[in-house]
Amino acid sequence: MKGVILAGGMGTRLLPLTKVTNKHLLPVYDQPMITYPIRTLVNAGIEEVLLVTGGNSVGEFLRLLGNGREYGLGWLSYAYQDGAGGIADALKLAREYAEGEKIIVILGDNIIEGNIRAATEAFLNEERGAKIFVKEVENPREYGVAVCEGDQVVHIDEKPEHPRSNLAVIGIYMYDEHVFEIIERLQPSARGELEITDVNNAYIDRGEMSYEVLDGWWGDSGECVDALYRVSALVAETGANKMEL
Ligand code: DAU
Repeated sequence: MKGVILAGGMGTRLLPLTKVTNKHLLPVYDQPMITYPIRTLVNAGIEEVLLVTGGNSVGEFLRLLGNGREYGLGWLSYAYQDGAGGIADALKLAREYAEGEKIIVILGDNIIEGNIRAATEAFLNEERGAKIFVKEVENPREYGVAVCEGDQVVHIDEKPEHPRSNLAVIGIYMYDEHVFEIIERLQPSARGELEITDVNNAYIDRGEMSYEVLDGWWGDSGECVDALYRVSALVAETGANKMEL
């Protein structure tokens, strides 16, 4: 399975840190942010990755990552997103790259303590559909929030004012080849973006979404300056991307 890392957007919530550089190049403890999601994919057994980026300093990704070998990848490709039309708009650029196969998508600011290898292998054995991960959080309003009934996720609310659960949808998604048809039919949300939550709700409505609760801590390091600071501290204290978790 190929991987896609989404690292575009304007990073406005981290201004002025992102005034001259791209959010995903900022340090998280002792490494640039973007190297953590790469490690997550490598640990999951992914060898080929497409990095979608945009905004400031896009050329610096090539300077940092080169062909990706230093980071454990067999092949690293790049795509450029014009503007910041949303996560699903960035993912659209992976259509040809995916070549009609399943893909795993990770947001460039999402960092995890453990690994998702078992879930990735389980998804590869599924015939069709999509898979997401959820994690209990204290501030669900900041995220996509999953409403679960039994072992099913029945809906996801994007940054709801009144969250119906405390289960945040983390920024790692697995999709079958139909994801691009779903994106083609999306309409921009009230904030003018193509929302990944609308993609996920489309899979839920088809009855083709599974979910897992993520082990270990998870951090959205690009959420705000405090989150960047918190995730850096977590990495310093316990390390990220541990294989044994
Ligand atoms: O971190 C998990 C959350 O990520 C989910 O719970 C939410 O459902 C999901 O919408 C997303 O929310 P954020 O508000 O954190 O998304 P953000 O705008 O920060 O974008 C996340 C990453 O996606 C960012 O690191 C870069 C990439 N991105 C974003 C936009 C808007 C792009 O590549 N292009 C874009 O146009």
